[in-house]
Amino acid sequence: MRYNFVVSKLYCTLATCPPLLLGRIVGGYTAAPNSIKYIVSLQSTRGQHFCGGSLVHRYWVLTAAHCNIGAEHMMIVAGDYIVNTFEGTEQYAKPHRLVTHPLYNRSTNDADIMLIKLRAPMVLNKYVSLAPLPRQGTGVVEGRVCRVSGWGYNSLGGGQARFTLRTVTVPIVSTARCNSSESFNGNITANMICAGYRTGGKDACKGDSGGPLVCGGRVYGVVSWGNGCGDAKFPGVYTAVSKFRRWIDQTIYGSYLRCTRY
Ligand code: ARG
Repeated sequence: MRYNFVVSKLYCTLATCPPLLLGRIVGGYTAAPNSIKYIVSLQSTRGQHFCGGSLVHRYWVLTAAHCNIGAEHMMIVAGDYIVNTFEGTEQYAKPHRLVTHPLYNRSTNDADIMLIKLRAPMVLNKYVSLAPLPRQGTGVVEGRVCRVSGWGYNSLGGGQARFTLRTVTVPIVSTARCNSSESFNGNITANMICAGYRTGGKDACKGDSGGPLVCGGRVYGVVSWGNGCGDAKFPGVYTAVSKFRRWIDQTIYGSYLRCTRY
């Protein structure tokens, strides 16, 4: 197990960190190859990773609304492990349609959730699977340990560095504590959940956005926002997927249901 550098003010700040240390899962380690089969990389049409996502149906990806750079600029890659390196397990699909949640608010980050309908379905195999989702309205208790994974953003591009999937475990923080005046001071809405250690050091970071926070095998969170990365006072903030389960099902299956009803 190789441990990642902790991107904190002890080591460097977002402004002073060398680009290679920026925007990776903080305090975690390299995932085993193809062990997280439902994670996808959202890439620019030039092949630059910018966000994560979860495959929830052969035709659909769950991600963050703030990852919307426009369907024509995006490529979805499933079965990936080292992003920027072709390993033969990857599957590529262009988006057909982006469905941003109608209540998404880019200034408060509320309802930061988006579904991407693919032009062609992903093939489920040894490297690609579907992510289980929580039921509508189910919560996760404070202290429950969950796992967040991602590739982070490579601001250098060019592919000289190998970007391997990384992962870290973080406990759920109550909304009351996350909203306290010492922390996010009321900015956490009912559509958000927080996760992180009281001592900080382990977190998602820029470029992990849209990726999954998995608790008990289900995607309870989508990496959304934060204040720095791994800061003891500021846990990572995730979109609460269980608040959107009904919207997800209606978006994915609603059209099929209408077609078969007569
Ligand atoms: N908004 C960031 C992104 O675009 C993700 C931030 C997550 N930050 C955190 N400290 N957990 O990738």
